[in-house]
Amino acid sequence: MHLTPTSSCFLAGVLFSALVSVQAAVPDAVRAAAIDLLDASHILHSLDVVDALGHVSVRNPVNSSQFLIYAIQNATAVGLTFSPTATVPAGFSERFIHSEIYKKFPEVNAVVHAHTEAILPFANQAKVPLVAQISTAPAVGVQVPVFNFSNLSASVLSGDTLSDFLIRNALLGDALANKFIGGSDVVLMANHGMAVRATSVRQAVFNAYYTMQNAKVQFQSILLGGGQAPAALNVKEMTDCVTTATTGLAPRAWNLWTKQVDLNPLYVNNLRNGAAASATGY
Ligand SMILES: *[C@@H]1O[C@H](CO)[C@@H](O)[C@H](O)[C@H]1NC(C)=O
Ligand SMILES: *[C@@H]1O[C@H](CO)[C@@H](O)[C@H](O)[C@H]1NC(C)=O
Ligand SMILES: *[C@@H]1O[C@H](CO)[C@@H](O)[C@H](O)[C@H]1NC(C)=O
Ligand SMILES: *[C@@H]1O[C@H](CO)[C@@H](O)[C@H](O)[C@H]1NC(C)=O
Repeated sequence: MHLTPTSSCFLAGVLFSALVSVQAAVPDAVRAAAIDLLDASHILHSLDVVDALGHVSVRNPVNSSQFLIYAIQNATAVGLTFSPTATVPAGFSERFIHSEIYKKFPEVNAVVHAHTEAILPFANQAKVPLVAQISTAPAVGVQVPVFNFSNLSASVLSGDTLSDFLIRNALLGDALANKFIGGSDVVLMANHGMAVRATSVRQAVFNAYYTMQNAKVQFQSILLGGGQAPAALNVKEMTDCVTTATTGLAPRAWNLWTKQVDLNPLYVNNLRNGAAASATGY
């Protein structure tokens, strides 16, 4: 449940579009990252990984202390970097998911947070861990860690913090980011959703989508097996699938998905099309 209006991926699109287009001096690498970020927002929505809620971010390629459009140190907006005139809202209430993952993992350049329904049974039911089951989902790993908001210590969840499962501050974000230690690129969030990290925004979209697909397949396999959980890919399979996914599958999927969102009038990437930014059409 995200109550702030800026939690919508579409509003994020408008914001990035406005910020980047008003100033011609934006470095090419930043513009390219913003274009990918808008596409990523649209693709995650079109693939049902996110609905009206959820968000994706990318580390600033020319300043590793920022992700578009926040300072990693304290998750405050740094829109002035892009435009002295744009009004920059505080942003997603859960931007601390992003800031704390970037802070802890220098190699991570993109983060997705989503409430994808298919993964929630595995987030809530600790007895059955989500494990990599399909060749396109090696990012799921041998067992996805679960971040359990309901079981946080008082030093992390102080008495006056809302218990609405939202990651509203850096302490909560840090506790979530700590769950990534152990190699998984996905952390399930009980009663809430998931966080996905990757070295690029395109890979983050691929990982988030196939984590959803993996959860659907695993759920059905368990039913088919009369409750018996199927085995995960073995370590060699997982390693080889990572290579195949990152070198071949993810780029091919990205090409298809950008074409799909281009054909849908709901999604407009003004940055990629080189048109002037506009708040209409989102
Ligand atoms: C990089 O980002 C940090 C955090 O926003 C900021 O303090 C610093 O000035 C930026 N560096 C450059 C070279 O813009
Ligand atoms: C947030 O951190 C940046 C440096 O990363 C700093 O320049 C800025 O003043 C800080 N903002 C607040 C509100 O603390
Ligand atoms: C709750 O957290 C404590 C440590 O803080 C841990 O020992 C316990 O296993 C956790 N319980 C569940 C159900 O996750
Ligand atoms: C989360 O913690 C609560 C309280 O300890 C516990 O009842 C629940 O089973 C835990 N959920 C998971 C998924 O571990």
